[in-house]
Amino acid sequence: MKRPFVIGNWKMNLTLVRGIEFAKLLKDSLHGKDGIMCGVCPPFIFLKEICKILEDSNVCVAAQNIHSEKYGAYTGEVSALMIKEVGCTHVLIGHSERRHIFHEDDSFINAKIKTALSVNLKPIFCVGEMLDEREAGRTKDVIRNQLVRGLRDVRADQLKEIVIAYEPVWAIGTGKTALPEQADEVHSFIRNTITNEYDKNLAKSIYILYGGSVKPENAKELTDQSEIDGLLVGGASILFESFLKIIEVVSKG
Ligand code: 13P
Repeated sequence: MKRPFVIGNWKMNLTLVRGIEFAKLLKDSLHGKDGIMCGVCPPFIFLKEICKILEDSNVCVAAQNIHSEKYGAYTGEVSALMIKEVGCTHVLIGHSERRHIFHEDDSFINAKIKTALSVNLKPIFCVGEMLDEREAGRTKDVIRNQLVRGLRDVRADQLKEIVIAYEPVWAIGTGKTALPEQADEVHSFIRNTITNEYDKNLAKSIYILYGGSVKPENAKELTDQSEIDGLLVGGASILFESFLKIIEVVSKG
């Protein structure tokens, strides 16, 4: 049984002052609690400060995005090297808001994953179907395509460094959580796809997180499912008390 991994995606929320306060509180609250694995994804502009606070703590810091190139004439973009330099260990790649609001496609996502790996940043690779795709019975096709295309040319030894997050688009920010069994079924499908594309042991060891309207009230029943290794939390991660509560309830075992 893996230790549950809980990550908070702050999206475009909080202020630097509140982010710093949050990081200090989190560090202090989790000090000495060895069984806990968690992280936060602050906006770019907060990363340097938050990484400094959480250095030598059991909380990792992830960026919310990177560009696929390491440097160059890409006005307004931030590179994997820059994220790494300020102390991030992880980066979200392929979040549904990037896919749907900013029209990022699978090949761009694949390029970002390979760039992140090349500088030793761990990708948190997000996949998920839209409501119409689920209703048309296409969930598994969509997830398989996102996985296979997003992981094109990623070797088994590199896949070990990746965390996968299943976030059904219809459950994000809607208050409509996937039923634990519904999420578990897709997680199991993801693991089978990894088994087919790579091998069974790797599929077993990889972390697969669930995201979509996670709250303190439903966190435990989700992570109680055999295939759900942790949670990617949006709205409930920007309130310190609710994020801490989620970490506490899932870490109790
Ligand atoms: P919510 O928890 O607000 O539904 O967001 C989920 C998410 O997108 C995390 O990346």
